[in-house]
Amino acid sequence: DLHKEINHLEELLTVDTAKLKEITSHFQNELEKGLSVEGGSIPMNPTWVMSYPTGHETGTYLALDMGGTNLRVCQVTLTEQKSEFDIIQSKYRMPEELKTGDADELWEYIADCLMQFIETHHGDPTKLEKIPLGFTFSYPATQNYVDEGILQRWTKGFDIPGVEGHNVVPMFQDALARRGVPIKLSALINDTTGTLVASAYTDPKMKIGCIFGTGCNAAYMEDCGSIPKLAHLNLPPDTPMAINCEWGAFDNEHKVLPRTAYDVVIDRDSPRPGQQSFEKMIAGLYLGEIFRLIMVDLHENSEARIFAGQDISKLRKPYTLDSSFLSAIEEDPLESLSETLALFQDKLNIGPNPAELKLIRRTCELIGTRAARLSACGVAAISRKKNYQSCHVGADGSVFNKYPHFKARGAVALREILDWPEKTDPKEEDPIEILAAEDGSGVGAALIAALTLRRVKDGN
Ligand code: BG6
Ligand code: GLC
Repeated sequence: DLHKEINHLEELLTVDTAKLKEITSHFQNELEKGLSVEGGSIPMNPTWVMSYPTGHETGTYLALDMGGTNLRVCQVTLTEQKSEFDIIQSKYRMPEELKTGDADELWEYIADCLMQFIETHHGDPTKLEKIPLGFTFSYPATQNYVDEGILQRWTKGFDIPGVEGHNVVPMFQDALARRGVPIKLSALINDTTGTLVASAYTDPKMKIGCIFGTGCNAAYMEDCGSIPKLAHLNLPPDTPMAINCEWGAFDNEHKVLPRTAYDVVIDRDSPRPGQQSFEKMIAGLYLGEIFRLIMVDLHENSEARIFAGQDISKLRKPYTLDSSFLSAIEEDPLESLSETLALFQDKLNIGPNPAELKLIRRTCELIGTRAARLSACGVAAISRKKNYQSCHVGADGSVFNKYPHFKARGAVALREILDWPEKTDPKEEDPIEILAAEDGSGVGAALIAALTLRRVKDGN
């Protein structure tokens, strides 16, 4: 019986309503601080995306989506019909070695994928006019223009020397030029900004774009008058400006987040210790690792000594388990947990006993619930800051789309934080609903490329 261990984990990993509220109010202050001249740990990056699409954009655009897991190339055709589009796309694997390799290799790999896509869909690249491209580069970047991106720091486990502090656009364009890829980069965007714009294109109630995937972040539309760090530009105060929050960096000072010893180890052993404190408790890249650290600790240090006498060498390998491992355990019917047993046997060569299986399941629930509840603090903080009483939030990413109960757990937490009364009818919408976004980055990048080209034509 592992009651004692389970109780202890429940204490460590449960975030109650009072704590959620405390985090949210600190979060709201930190959002403000990020917009101020002094700045704070949340970057609050202006993106130079300064309007929502009207729904009447037209033309054919390419979108390149460099996220944490996949590289995707899309061709999006925006049609005369309001808010409609056609999309074709190819997915390429983002080889693990590239994430910590050499910058040239990264850009060349991307250029090759683009070339392959163009050859397949357009034929001979030497005969083509340059096609406008929106580049979704989902890392924190400083932008003075929509077609520049100075990498602030790598996140999501990337660690490629020589890129931080530099504008990535010329590096990317040089690789395209070397291979003669007929592309003109129109805009560099974040996946959250893409998600925001694409969501608003089909649903005007969408006010926030979120990613809950390998990383975790959000974007929303601010007024330039509320961005003191842009005051020197004298933009009209009511001019809209999409802000890529980079909220993964929330609480890097460790003032409010209920970090555990496991979170401390994750941070310590990551390529960028001290960075992305919030993200490291929530995002898909880390959920499996939190779980693994707990299991190893309970094997070594608890009175119960789980998996006693078994060889846990496979479990000792960092980042062996991804969030899909936890998803599968949470989906396993509680009565038998036979899938969980099979997963442990196949992947880790460990055969947990029935009490251990229950502990495993409960640990996954606690980690997944903590992630969903903490995420809700970010959504609540932006909603409060902007005084959104009622809106939709467009969300994308593997955790949001695939992790069991993530949406429901987030919705419960949002209700607790924002003090909504109980629903009278279960079918009733919540005042603020987090909904699956319609393919954020492909359509979003194309739309932003279209908006940018229109702005250039109009001379703004
Ligand atoms: C995809 C978007 O659907 O979700 C990407 O197209 C985004 O732009 C990604 O980065 C995030 O999810 P994950 O799980 O791949 O990190
Ligand atoms: C990381 C990146 C951020 C991105 C998020 C989701 O937090 O820094 O730019 O939006 O992951 O992919």
